Amino acid sequence: MDDLGETHAFGRSLFSRSSPDYDEEEALRWAALEKLPTYDRARTAVLAMPGEGLKEVNLEKLSAQEKHALLQLVAWVGDDHERFLSKFKDRLDRVGIQLPTIEVRYENLNVEAQAHVGSRGLPTILNTYANILEGVANALHLTPNRKQKIPILHNVSGIIKPHRMTLLLGPPGAGKTSLLLALAGTLPSSLKMSGDLTYNGHTMDEFVPRRSAAYVSQHDMHMAELTVRETVNFSAKCQGIGHRFDLLMELSRREKEEHIKPDPEIDIYMKAVATGDQKAEVVTNHILKVLGLDICADIMIGNNMLRGISGGQKKRVTTAEMLVTPGRALFMDEISTGLDSSTTFQIVNSIRQTIHIIGGTAVIALLQPAPETYELFDDIILLSDGHVVYNGPRQYVLEFFEIMGFKCPKRKGVADFLQEVSFASL
Ligand SMILES: Nc1ncnc2c1ncn2[C@@H]1O[C@H](COP(=O)(O)OP(=O)(O)O)[C@@H](O)[C@H]1O
Ligand SMILES: [Mg+2]
Repeated sequence: MDDLGETHAFGRSLFSRSSPDYDEEEALRWAALEKLPTYDRARTAVLAMPGEGLKEVNLEKLSAQEKHALLQLVAWVGDDHERFLSKFKDRLDRVGIQLPTIEVRYENLNVEAQAHVGSRGLPTILNTYANILEGVANALHLTPNRKQKIPILHNVSGIIKPHRMTLLLGPPGAGKTSLLLALAGTLPSSLKMSGDLTYNGHTMDEFVPRRSAAYVSQHDMHMAELTVRETVNFSAKCQGIGHRFDLLMELSRREKEEHIKPDPEIDIYMKAVATGDQKAEVVTNHILKVLGLDICADIMIGNNMLRGISGGQKKRVTTAEMLVTPGRALFMDEISTGLDSSTTFQIVNSIRQTIHIIGGTAVIALLQPAPETYELFDDIILLSDGHVVYNGPRQYVLEFFEIMGFKCPKRKGVADFLQEVSFASL
């Protein structure tokens, strides 16, 4: 532990600028880095090693000690997410890079389920074969389709803007999950969708929606035998690093042209998450810290048979799995179920910082958010029985319902009032 503490203190002193020797040495190292071609510069970082002083290291060929020192050095990002985001934004702004944003538009969206009902819907052996035969006969137009049509969403339209957080409210069964699935392009084949859905003007068949949108399910499905860290790490490795490396190359190129020296703290973090074997680990540590999962990082997830982390923590693991890849539109379904209101507030707040500072897109469905959580949102979509009752800025919602003849009583939370109104307007 002593060794750890020493590395940490040593690493910190690289940035604290307390000693003039370091300043001088650091400047020399940076000058040497500057001379490298962009390709190499994006892969080389200056690390403070205990007993060796400052050292240039190739991030793709790190030794165990160097990796350890690097992980210590970038640990601050999780502790201070907001400072990280503003530093990141500053770095981009200085060279005039704007991150791509996603605007989602949906118009006249209809979703309906086609299902066999009653005992015909049961997955018995007989029904399975009957369904196959019926499917073939239907395709050949020999028999009429016996599946019942159950409308879920009726002609809903709206826009989801980047830089703004949208809250999706509605009583259970209103169609929140169906709308989020439809917007994320992940509707199951049993649900049929019609209408126009575009991301920045592109229809869903022009790109791969799963790479641009993430749906965070309301049910947690995990491998019970993996620990929290393993689960999130696996997710980070599978989903890749997004556009982080391209961004780093472009930043390096522009900074060299304009002779700008980047903030060393943010520089080393961005390099650590873009190249080398440790990139998934660095991102995992960061996200675990932001979601407050670091205390149970090495505990097994568990299930009904195997005692593991608590229900609220499971919910956060589900969220963490989706947050590890940057630059996607987030559609989150009832992430607060099983969480206390202050944890929900913290999670929604950290997502809000990201959305506002970096310019992401997010729709979050919550059941009964607390007033302080409700106030974090910019826009509201209120669903009732498959219809959109309200879609617009949060500050006008009460005014709108007052004009319609519904007044929010004093001492009642606005979110609760909206849920009630949507029942009343049925
Ligand atoms: N595959 C399906 N087959 C039949 N009905 C469905 C199917 N999926 C959803 N529904 C119905 O659609 C309605 C809306 O469901 P859902 O989107 O899950 O609501 P919410 O998430 O707001 O609680 C419910 O009445 C549900 O029974
Ligand atoms: Mg739901």
